[in-house]
Amino acid sequence: MDLTQSLLESLPEPHLILSRSFSCLAVNNAFAELVRLETRAIVGSSALSFWPTARACAAGGESTVELRASDGRAITARVEAVVSEVIVVRVLASVASGESAQLHHKQRLETLGLLAGGIAHDFNNVLTGILGHVAYMKHVLPDSGPDRGVAGDSIKAIEEGAVRASGLTQQILKFSKLDSTETSSPVDVGDLVGRVAALLKSAIPTDVALRVSPASTALRVLASESHITQILINLIINARDAISGKGAIDVSVEGRCPEEEVVRLFGAEPIASAYGAIVVRDDGIGMDEQVKARLFERYFTTKSSSGTGLGLATVNSIVQQLGGAIEVISEPKKGSVFRIVLPAVTEQVVQNAEVAGEHGGLRKGKGERVLVIDDEYAVRNVLGLSLSHLGYQVETADGGLEGVEKFEQSPESFSLVILDLLMPGLSGEEVFNRLRARNPQLPVLIVSGFSSEHVVQRVLEDGARDFIQKPFSIEVLSEKVRGCLRD
Ligand SMILES: Nc1ncnc2c1ncn2[C@@H]1O[C@H](COP(=O)(O)OP(=O)(O)OP(=O)(O)O)[C@@H](O)[C@H]1O
Ligand SMILES: [Mg+2]
Repeated sequence: MDLTQSLLESLPEPHLILSRSFSCLAVNNAFAELVRLETRAIVGSSALSFWPTARACAAGGESTVELRASDGRAITARVEAVVSEVIVVRVLASVASGESAQLHHKQRLETLGLLAGGIAHDFNNVLTGILGHVAYMKHVLPDSGPDRGVAGDSIKAIEEGAVRASGLTQQILKFSKLDSTETSSPVDVGDLVGRVAALLKSAIPTDVALRVSPASTALRVLASESHITQILINLIINARDAISGKGAIDVSVEGRCPEEEVVRLFGAEPIASAYGAIVVRDDGIGMDEQVKARLFERYFTTKSSSGTGLGLATVNSIVQQLGGAIEVISEPKKGSVFRIVLPAVTEQVVQNAEVAGEHGGLRKGKGERVLVIDDEYAVRNVLGLSLSHLGYQVETADGGLEGVEKFEQSPESFSLVILDLLMPGLSGEEVFNRLRARNPQLPVLIVSGFSSEHVVQRVLEDGARDFIQKPFSIEVLSEKVRGCLRD
């Protein structure tokens, strides 16, 4: 084997070297396997026979191309071409047409996610109504007497049920938009692990025990919850797949990683002052050195029909983004341990990030006029009721157009507009722009579900005073409204 050939063979990705007239000069085994030809048959032939559009690669750079394997299958590949006297082509990723079922499957899951997200969104609005009315009733019930006892118990039961349902809705919403641009905030990893494990229970066979050990020290990481969720799901499902028959998956959280580990992974001067870890351990089939070496490659999978090979690649890219590292300890038949080491947030940052003053008594209004624009009856109704109770004069509008009209009738009379962003017809953002064009100083409080954070962010940057997330309590509402009125 000559030097070029042994060099090519040492590269894990499929490689092809072409002359400037697109005849194949050299190729590695990985490429030959991809197009299902013998290396001998490729070298010396024209690339156009299995790559009809090969000429385009003379421009260099990355592109997506279609290759034809000798068995007739079409292969869609992402390739990178480096052009000098010869053209070196590297295949970064590829999917054969027979594998498109997998892609379909993935797309179906994504559609399901969207659907679940949509339902959860509507459901959340209903819950906002229920919880809002409960909060209102708690405040108008007499403090003592027989009425308080019975009605009070019922109200408490309704509230508890609705709070639980609201928790579930939020989890569905988070699951349905794992790739969102959710903002980072300190995530209590131990708490999240518990919630994710509870949700994954139904995906784990009964012969496999999923055990979560409580953390001795809490771990908080500056991240978006959906990113950490994604890491956990991928690791736990991989562990499940590695176990055939009886077995156990142990998930634990370490608040502080040992000094030696931090130095080993990040050097003597790590960026963060402390690191913690998420540890997922299984007693499944384990991995040999070859699998371990390719673990994080995109599309690398040993699960012939069921895997996309994207799981750990995604985990890796999230961990890199967060400034962490991954350690894998595994041997064939001895199970695997995945340690995800992440920068830990110190107490100081947590305190700064937590919104102060969410609780306490109700802060009353002084008769200011408030315009509520929300297409959802339940939300509009409870906002109206709560605000009147708090001492505001309330006007409501069931959509953007009506809202703008009501505002136009007497723009100066409103001290505050409470605006839902997600409405059919005239969108909340458009309404916001129209109102502010009329009165640039107008205080606006945004009502947000969970599916529109980037819009919320934009409107806040454009000058909305604050936002309140559904479902909300009357205490938080009273606080936010006073805050918007700069009181
Ligand atoms: N806990 C584990 N035990 C044994 N092998 C593992 C484990 N986790 C990952 N692997 C190996 O790493 C490969 C890549 O994992 P990755 O999560 O990226 O893709 P996948 O699980 O095959 O596909 P997908 O995540 O799309 O279902 C797996 O196919 C498997 O061979
Ligand atoms: Mg996986």
